[in-house]
Amino acid sequence: MATIRVIFESGEPERVIEFDPAEAPFQHDGRPASILDILLGHGVLLEHACGGNCACTTCHVIVKRGSGALSEASEQEEDLLDKAPGLTPTSRLGCQAVVEDPSAEIVVVVPRFIINQVCECARSAT
Ligand code: FES
Repeated sequence: MATIRVIFESGEPERVIEFDPAEAPFQHDGRPASILDILLGHGVLLEHACGGNCACTTCHVIVKRGSGALSEASEQEEDLLDKAPGLTPTSRLGCQAVVEDPSAEIVVVVPRFIINQVCECARSAT
């Protein structure tokens, strides 16, 4: 089993998700087994204004641990990340970063500030 620990800069309680990447997709947004797919599929909201189609930056996460277990970032993802507020060297788009290692131990931080602060999905997921 792989794990993702999710830390929210907003102060929400941390979440730890255990999952088997081979069971992806867990829902319908983002690449199968992406951080977005895993979080949404396990009841953890991550903003995703474009529906997980690599066309915004609202799913920005900072990978604190386990980046080697993730797929490489595409040029399109890197171009978008350049526009993300609070960009770090380990930033990824949650909808594009796919967990490829079935025993991965990943830690991500969800930044407090994103461009799209208003998202209908945020209201319906609580
Ligand atoms: S949800 Fe828009 S780029 Fe990931």
